[in-house]
Amino acid sequence: MSKKPLILGIETSCDETAASIVTENEHGIPIVLSNVISSQVDVHKEFGGVVPELAARSHIEKIDWIVQKAIRESGKKIEEINAIASTAGPGLIVCLSVGLSFGKSLASILNKPFIAINHLEGHALSPKLNSKLNYPYLLLLISGGHSQYLHVQNIGTYKRLGTTIDDALGEAFDKTAKLLGIKFPGGPQIEILAKKGNPKRFDLPKPILNKGGCNLSFAGLKTAVLKISKNIKNDQDKFDLAASFQKTILDILLKKTTIAFKEYEKTNSKKNKIFVVAGGVAANEQIRLMLIKLCDENGYKPVFPPINLCGDNAAMIALVGLEKFKTNKFSSLDSPAKPRWPLDEKAEFLKGAGVKL
Ligand code: KG4
Ligand code: ZN
Repeated sequence: MSKKPLILGIETSCDETAASIVTENEHGIPIVLSNVISSQVDVHKEFGGVVPELAARSHIEKIDWIVQKAIRESGKKIEEINAIASTAGPGLIVCLSVGLSFGKSLASILNKPFIAINHLEGHALSPKLNSKLNYPYLLLLISGGHSQYLHVQNIGTYKRLGTTIDDALGEAFDKTAKLLGIKFPGGPQIEILAKKGNPKRFDLPKPILNKGGCNLSFAGLKTAVLKISKNIKNDQDKFDLAASFQKTILDILLKKTTIAFKEYEKTNSKKNKIFVVAGGVAANEQIRLMLIKLCDENGYKPVFPPINLCGDNAAMIALVGLEKFKTNKFSSLDSPAKPRWPLDEKAEFLKGAGVKL
């Protein structure tokens, strides 16, 4: 049996410094040998969001020992690594530059190939880690910076079916949490507070629910939450607002996912009815339960990455590196950081005021 490739993945696009070693087993299934993540939540929580300069400084401080730890925990030696894959975008340029420069330098010193990775591609393929998943599939990518429905035809071939025209879903969760007095990143806390609240108490808007296909919009929702939050008097009000917000998101995703199913089926054989949900917000249990039920009703197979691989991590970066390594898709050492790098480069830019749907 030939020796399986060993890939080092490095991720520094936002506020997690992460490194991972991934290989594959004899059935071609990518296997995570180590997955080290250092979160900067404590650095940013006082500021209510990620401060790029502070994030970059923290990446610089930690990157050496995070990479060393990932190699040590994998049980392998640095010389055994076959290629180094770093996130090159999208993300904060000062943050991306840390992992990108580190990866290129290491590749150069070890005389191994370097592979520049799209962070979104990492999320898109993340359910392939430690399990079998065949192309094509419909993907809902919901994170702090992105919310998109994509038809994943193959590695490197993505067709965007819908996207947010303003805020990302994770951003909407975090902003709502901030208005309720919860420190950044408050998304996961909303889920906890919502358990104690009445989801029918506040009637919140569902922007573009009945137009724009499976495109999404959350900015109007945030404005409504802002108005109500000014009249919050006690904990129960807070719980009710968190529950009403989460219920509104469930209603929006239910309707938009039903539309996305139809769009996917138009462009794809009905045989591959697989629905993958990835990105940080995919950790939300209520969203998972609702989408699993919807899949059941529509004959789809639901696929979620394990909770620890939903948020930002380097295993998903090493995974894309592994897939590219197998087809010799290497990058040059002058590959730039790309703050904006859509998966579907042909899709129209649909963000900001004046977007026509
Ligand atoms: O994928 P991710 O780790 O980073 C980005 O690439 O953006 O996603 C982070 C986002 C944050 O906005 C966070 O609040 C949200 O995912 N998030 C959640 C939950 N866990 C994380 N949102 C709602 N419910 C959760 N349980
Ligand atoms: Zn991410």
